[in-house]
Amino acid sequence: MADMTGKDTILSVEHLSMIFGGLIAVNDLSFQAHRGEITALIGPNGAGKTTVFNCITGFYKPTQGMMKLTRKTGEEFLLERLPDFKVNREAKVARTFQNLRLFSGLTLLENLLVAQHNALNKASYYTIGGLFGLSHYKTHAAEAKDKARFWLDRIGLLARADDPAGDLPYGAQRRLEIARAMCTGPELLCLDEPAAGLNPRESDELNKLLLAIRDDHNMAILLIEHDMSVVMGISDHVVVLDYGKKISDGTPNHVKNDPAVIRAYLGVEDVEEELNALAAEPAAKAAAAAAPALKSELPKLATEFKRERVNIPPPPVLTLPDEVPAVAAKTKAVAEPARVAATVAAKKAVARPVKTPAKKTTKTAAKKTAKKKGGRA
Ligand SMILES: Nc1ncnc2c1ncn2[C@@H]1O[C@H](COP(=O)(O)OP(=O)(O)O)[C@@H](O)[C@H]1O
Ligand SMILES: [Mg+2]
Repeated sequence: MADMTGKDTILSVEHLSMIFGGLIAVNDLSFQAHRGEITALIGPNGAGKTTVFNCITGFYKPTQGMMKLTRKTGEEFLLERLPDFKVNREAKVARTFQNLRLFSGLTLLENLLVAQHNALNKASYYTIGGLFGLSHYKTHAAEAKDKARFWLDRIGLLARADDPAGDLPYGAQRRLEIARAMCTGPELLCLDEPAAGLNPRESDELNKLLLAIRDDHNMAILLIEHDMSVVMGISDHVVVLDYGKKISDGTPNHVKNDPAVIRAYLGVEDVEEELNALAAEPAAKAAAAAAPALKSELPKLATEFKRERVNIPPPPVLTLPDEVPAVAAKTKAVAEPARVAATVAAKKAVARPVKTPAKKTTKTAAKKTAKKKGGRA
């Protein structure tokens, strides 16, 4: 049902928390997803995105919170109270996984038929019940086949219907997984990093498919992604998670410019300050000014460097046997000026005034390391 803002809310997540031992994977998360919209749930690795999906789809029982799903009929479901098969069958939520979970030995068609086994099972149960049972089963089987054919065509794989799913290129397997989810007749489609591992062309095909599913079926799509740039172009609504907490929520444009989001993705206290400080560095300025000239010089310098390195004699060995003082003195006399020259050159190189933003960079790096240590995958 459309609310005051004209949005038709299908999923309302309220104060969702999931705690594993001492780790708060999802921390008091609230957001809504709307029918006919692509909602992206984004955040760095380990932010808690998959955990949110596992709660929504009934795979985990959340520690706290409520997830209300409203079907087109107006029927409401509290997902946290449903076992996972009912989340799919009754609340009409379908999902794909971060790692592909197709039956690679079954054909494409079989994969899509197996996905509809609920409908088929129900129909075959009716066959025991009555006279019209058989025709009922036949109708359902025919419907299942039609649906499979429709989605195979939709993902551009109808010609490969009888090939094993495992033979498909990776991008096509991803699309097949989405088709399989769609065959269960969902009202909310949840996709966990569907663009992961796709090349730019496949990623583009995927985006077109998702937009078409949204528009032609008025579908609500909830899309997980860790790389912001992948979803910005196709999302209507973006929710950003960091360390299990929601840090931003709004249109792609709003989220993209939200300092909290930039901080989470770059791991710095104040990006603008950092960038200004860097730009003000004399060394950075000098390097930036010298860069164009240096660019044309670089190949020449590199060649020269290589040639010189081949001709450079090995450094003199200064530890000499004491019992041959004469030889030692003579060698030392030759070696010493070379060593002194080398030391002077080395000192000059070190003393060159290349100033790095030492303090801040170290702080940032330390924080990044700390983040990594904080168990991010
Ligand atoms: N079943 C689990 N048991 C313990 N810790 C988990 C479990 N699932 C996820 N986590 C932890 O919860 C945090 C969020 O993980 P996850 O939801 O997979 O993040 P994302 O999908 O955003 O990368 C991580 O620190 C992860 O290690
Ligand atoms: Mg994940």
